[in-house]
Amino acid sequence: MEEDKIIRFASRMDYLPPYLFGMINKMKMEKRRNGDDVIDLGMGNPMDPTPDAVIEKLVNVAKDPKSHRYPESSGLPNLKKEIAKYYGRHYNITLDADKETYFTIGSKEGISHLCLAIMGPGDCVLVPAPAFPIHIYAAVIAGANVMRIPLEPEKGFLDRIITVCESCYPSPKVLMLNYPHNPTGVVTDKNFFKEVVKLAKRFKFMVINDFAYGKITYDGYVAPSFLEIEGAKDVGVEFGSFSKSYNMAGWRIGYCVGNEKIVEALGKIKGYFDYGIFSAIQVAGIIALRDCDDTIPGLAKIYENRRDVLCSGLERIGWDITRPKAGMFVWAKIPEPFNKMGSMEFAIQLMNNGNVAVAPGAGFSEEGEGYLRLALVENEERLRQAVRQMKKAMDQMKI
Ligand SMILES: Cc1ncc(COP(=O)(O)O)c(C=O)c1O
Repeated sequence: MEEDKIIRFASRMDYLPPYLFGMINKMKMEKRRNGDDVIDLGMGNPMDPTPDAVIEKLVNVAKDPKSHRYPESSGLPNLKKEIAKYYGRHYNITLDADKETYFTIGSKEGISHLCLAIMGPGDCVLVPAPAFPIHIYAAVIAGANVMRIPLEPEKGFLDRIITVCESCYPSPKVLMLNYPHNPTGVVTDKNFFKEVVKLAKRFKFMVINDFAYGKITYDGYVAPSFLEIEGAKDVGVEFGSFSKSYNMAGWRIGYCVGNEKIVEALGKIKGYFDYGIFSAIQVAGIIALRDCDDTIPGLAKIYENRRDVLCSGLERIGWDITRPKAGMFVWAKIPEPFNKMGSMEFAIQLMNNGNVAVAPGAGFSEEGEGYLRLALVENEERLRQAVRQMKKAMDQMKI
């Protein structure tokens, strides 16, 4: 009792529900400790290896004591030049390497700290929903108010933004975007981004585009960068990640590119919090950006094949599936009558009775209820097995 008076947390903690992936992971670990072979489609944590050349560079540079010192926090000059060249090569965008690029300890860290730098109490942030949790909670932690905008239909999405901007005072300060989108796999085109830039200028809001899945695309679809649109740099930034394009999720390296003032604000706040990314990882990152363009299509093809295996399997057991054109997830509507039990309970039963871990849609906000997110991180054989085990679990479920 006495302890309750001593150990007290900041009020912002009251707004943070238990982290969805943490709960699912805990259940999975317990089962695995008991000897169960859980097929893990829960988290978007790539299982495939980082390209060899990147690993070799890390190993060599890590042996050099110079790399053990505090690193260059915004990114090594050559790494910053390399991301500028990458954007030039892939998207025909000119970036000032010095002022318009900043490297972060993964894009999640960057997005979180940028929110602390550009928003606070009294500010309103628009977030498409369902949403990857940090898109909502980074703003919540910063003390801002989040207004969720249902992601689909696309036309309705822009209309909702206009209505909110016209009726909300003070009007929204930031629009958070994420194309290709996690968890739904929804993609977009340059016309949509053009409209967004127009609205940002009309209603004076900043735009953040999380482009983590920019290169994991299927069926010939090419995802546009937000910065390809004329005037985009006047209103916003884009975050990218090495986690998915190069299977470097555990390395913790991502970047922010775009509007100079926003990039500067990110650097200012990060200067207080951290010292940047281990130099050896930064040098290895140069190799990824410079030499690994050719490995990306092969990696995307692996996910595309897995998507086909999983979607075909789910269709065979009667699920109505929309095949995503990008990302590394299948966003699957839970069929009747199982949808009545709610996505969390359904996911728990799939885990307990089928040894398959999935992410319940409700974890991506209320708009995700009724869905599951299945990560394409297991190989094709395991995905086929997962569908068989899901079917068996569903046959045993009491609704
Ligand atoms: C949409 C989205 N953004 C960002 C991240 C995190 O990327 P990083 O590993 O660069 O922090 C993820 C990871 O799953 C994601 O799905």
